[in-house]
Amino acid sequence: MSPLARNPRVLVVDDNAAFLDNLQELLGDAGYEVRIAESCRAARECAKDGFDVALVDLRLPDGDGTALAAELKQELPESEVVLLTGFATLETAVEAVRAGACAYLMKPCAPQDLLLTLEQAMRQVRLHAEKRELARRAQVTEKLAAVGTMTAGLSHEIRNPLNAAALQLSVLERRVRKLSEAQQGPLLEPLSLVRDEIRRLDHILEDFLQFARPRDFRPEPVEVEPLLRRVVDLLGGQAEARKVRLERVGAASTARVPGEEERLRQVLINLALNALEATPAGGEVRISAGEDGQSVWVTVDDTGPGVPSEVRDRIFEPFFTTKAQGSGLGLSIVHSIVTQHGGTLEVGDAPGGGARFFLRLPKAPPVVAYR
Ligand SMILES: Nc1ncnc2c1ncn2[C@@H]1O[C@H](COP(=O)(O)OP(=O)(O)OP(=O)(O)O)[C@@H](O)[C@H]1O
Ligand SMILES: [Mg+2]
Repeated sequence: MSPLARNPRVLVVDDNAAFLDNLQELLGDAGYEVRIAESCRAARECAKDGFDVALVDLRLPDGDGTALAAELKQELPESEVVLLTGFATLETAVEAVRAGACAYLMKPCAPQDLLLTLEQAMRQVRLHAEKRELARRAQVTEKLAAVGTMTAGLSHEIRNPLNAAALQLSVLERRVRKLSEAQQGPLLEPLSLVRDEIRRLDHILEDFLQFARPRDFRPEPVEVEPLLRRVVDLLGGQAEARKVRLERVGAASTARVPGEEERLRQVLINLALNALEATPAGGEVRISAGEDGQSVWVTVDDTGPGVPSEVRDRIFEPFFTTKAQGSGLGLSIVHSIVTQHGGTLEVGDAPGGGARFFLRLPKAPPVVAYR
């Protein structure tokens, strides 16, 4: 199972205690996380925590199951509802469809029918999630392309005067150093501040140019383990300064991925830096890796506050930042490099709290399409 995957969640809404007991056992054994509600009111409460599929009885003590199904579907359009009924008529079937239910089952139903229907509903749920993820990626890619075109010329124009300013600053610094110690003192500090700001601008321009330069992709086999170790080494000083433990945890990986080492290092540095920045002193940032089937995965976990759900959809957008000093380009650069490598990047929750960034890269070279 992928480190971000979780068990599918089923909400069962029925007022028959014996039936609920049976279902809880059956679904629990089949790997579902089960929540039960005996009324419409309880179901609305449970639904606030989210679910993947709701199994709703048509007759509930405080209302009608069809109306509840419609309500739940409106609240969570990416989840599915299956209606349960003691006796089926054409009318109830039509109503169920109108309410947005994806299926409807007659009670008592055979366990294998129930499990099959649930599996079909889960397939729908996964399709909704995949569709949303594809739309999100397309949107980010579109924005990145726009940023690339827009900033290519601009970055170039800014870089020339910036280089001239840096050169003049060196001249000024040299002249100041020729002054007496007492005269140098009040001049050197502002000069070094200007130097820092120029460096920062240069760094931002470099980031912009990453989008602007449509570079060839020349993948070579890159060994994952040395790459991860190098990143941990490179950021060791920063971690120490922040009093955060930065560690490569778990078994060493022998995997290789086709890619550009420097760009992959940039991906991991950005993820680890974000994790370090989010983690309070005394916390930990853990990097682990493994492989399954056709891909290699890397997770970067931290013990910071995590990424709130309302910003999750936006963090890969260029310029989205919640930091006073951030440019908001880090993760969008990461996103474009990962996409170029044929991989995916997801964000979720780390097991002990905090954020988990989950990177997946193909093990085999990407398939070349011939026209
Ligand atoms: N590990 C993390 N924990 C919590 N929030 C995170 C984490 N990583 C990223 N984020 C959120 O995603 C936002 C975007 O990150 P991104 O790396 O693109 O930009 P930034 O870090 O703000 O600025 P820059 O990387 O350009 O310095 C961050 O501002 C932060 O809100
Ligand atoms: Mg960042």
